[in-house]
Amino acid sequence: MKALITAGGHGTRLRPITHTKNKHLIPIANKPMLSYALEYVRDAGISEVGIVVNVGDTEIEKVFGKGADFDLNISYIPQKAPLGLAHVVKIAESFIGDEKFIFYLGDNILVGGIKKFIDEFEKDGSNCHLVLSRVPDPQRFGVPEIVNGRIVSVEEKPQYPKSQFAVTGIYIYDNSIFEAVNNIQPSTRGELEISDAHQYLLEKGYQISFSEITGWWKDTGKVIDLLEANRLILENLKATVSGDVDDQSTVTGNVIIGKGSTITNSVLRGPIIVGKNVKICDAYIGPNTSIADGCRIIASEVEYSILMDNSKIEDLHVRMESSLLGHGVEIIQSSTRPKTHRFMIGDQSRIRLS
Ligand code: DAU
Repeated sequence: MKALITAGGHGTRLRPITHTKNKHLIPIANKPMLSYALEYVRDAGISEVGIVVNVGDTEIEKVFGKGADFDLNISYIPQKAPLGLAHVVKIAESFIGDEKFIFYLGDNILVGGIKKFIDEFEKDGSNCHLVLSRVPDPQRFGVPEIVNGRIVSVEEKPQYPKSQFAVTGIYIYDNSIFEAVNNIQPSTRGELEISDAHQYLLEKGYQISFSEITGWWKDTGKVIDLLEANRLILENLKATVSGDVDDQSTVTGNVIIGKGSTITNSVLRGPIIVGKNVKICDAYIGPNTSIADGCRIIASEVEYSILMDNSKIEDLHVRMESSLLGHGVEIIQSSTRPKTHRFMIGDQSRIRLS
């Protein structure tokens, strides 16, 4: 079996971060989001992986290379434009050849790996296996209609969903999917929809089996989804302290502190991950926070947030929470007069002051 993983697309809902960074490299618990997909694929015993990237994007390849760090053999497949998930499958046909494969959307984060879904697919002997998750807002997803324990139709982002399930971004196929993606037409939004390919399979009498994710699954389209994914991954990490924590500081709960980091006169309430060479002084860091290498948090309070590397927060008089900070961001409260806010902010940034 091979794996096909997406790392292209528009990333529009995560601007401005995605102006300068591929969404799939945004860190979750201080690791690029895509590394979770790669680890799960490897743990399922797969070694041949194709990653689909936007044409001209070399960022992903710079980070993951040929996959040696993951014991994988990675090939990169450029997509000329984000023309839909069925288009992704279509352009990967020669890479997949005759093998069965798992198609994994690189912006999906789940707990517990994917091996069990592959086992279900093999056991059912179906042509396509969909992994479903019960959600409160199925209109945002591909939605299956289930009658007598069988999927009878699949619709993409329907206004009136026929079930409470989302089709998650984990699909397992045999090569009948290529007949489907080569025969469907673009949707009204101009994309070859993967749900239309599934509907095609059903109409042609191919077998679609499914499993339900009972644990946690997230499609990280928005900032709040990233923060939730970060919370979930942090909950499952084991505490290790390699940096220095002074006697005036209190560290409780699950906290990871990397080499060269110093915690002085501060309170850290886990789960938290602190990278390498971070300075935290006279500060409070609350649960579900990831702080990447080289950050400085001085006389400030931060909770439920993701800070990418080398960001600096100093003397903030309000607690910062539910925030996503890019590389080298500075938020500094100045004590000089006049008391003004001074900003240098990229396109489509969002700031909420209260
Ligand atoms: O997350 C599950 C949902 O993913 C499913 O329920 C939907 O049926 C499916 O269409 C998809 O919906 P999204 O609107 O969330 O897809 P999105 O455009 O966000 O793309 C998902 C991933 O695929 C993401 O890693 C970006 C990448 N992508 C997307 C497109 C459209 C590509 O690499 N190329 C593309 O052409």
